[in-house]
Amino acid sequence: MRSSSLASPIAFKSDKGVRTVVSETAIFENRSDMYKNGNLPVRDTVLELGVYLGDNALDLYDALDPELLVLADPWEETTDPRFKASNHDVVQEKVKGKRTQIIKGTEDDVLERFRPGFFSMVYIDTTHTYADTKRQLHKLHGLVKRNGYLCGHDFGHPEDANYGVVGAVFDFMITNGWSLSHVTTDDEPYRSFCITKVSI
Ligand SMILES: C[S@@+](CC[C@H](N)C(=O)[O-])C[C@H]1O[C@@H](n2cnc3c(N)ncnc32)[C@H](O)[C@@H]1O
Repeated sequence: MRSSSLASPIAFKSDKGVRTVVSETAIFENRSDMYKNGNLPVRDTVLELGVYLGDNALDLYDALDPELLVLADPWEETTDPRFKASNHDVVQEKVKGKRTQIIKGTEDDVLERFRPGFFSMVYIDTTHTYADTKRQLHKLHGLVKRNGYLCGHDFGHPEDANYGVVGAVFDFMITNGWSLSHVTTDDEPYRSFCITKVSI
């Protein structure tokens, strides 16, 4: 980790009603470093949306020791040959005996099952397009508890790819009063990020 402390976001309303948000962003080498050293909530409730073979799920589990780790992915055959239906069984085997709940579905299926403020942290890693990321942030932010985090992968601009995570996250932050609390750098352009809600 390159920054030793995490500052809380500062927010205020001016007499003209303009809300200003100031925050410091803690910088980490990569997502494992961020999970271990980022003061993210431990022994709490975490969701990963977009699980694939479950490798990041295991990293989250080992670093944050969650009370419950919910893993949601449709695990459907797609045009990407890596995304096979059988990946579901691989994940099921990997997390056997751990405090996990597997949902074979998307953000809509997660929304149906959990009450507002249930999760301390949500990690989004799905298609990385602007439209999908924006939709998922808007759908899932209500499930994040006060002082919790919305995080995700691919916060960068790989060449020759339709990646819109940076734009979607910034548009969401500006519109909804969240601020960038964590970012990873050595893994660019496949950085991870976390944002947190600024309370006024
Ligand atoms: C890049 S992989 C995830 C990798 C995993 N997070 C890791 O780091 O090990 C993307 C996954 O997102 C899934 N996916 C695509 N759209 C989704 C959606 N709307 N909700 C949940 N998962 C989705 C795909 O099936 C695929 O398994």
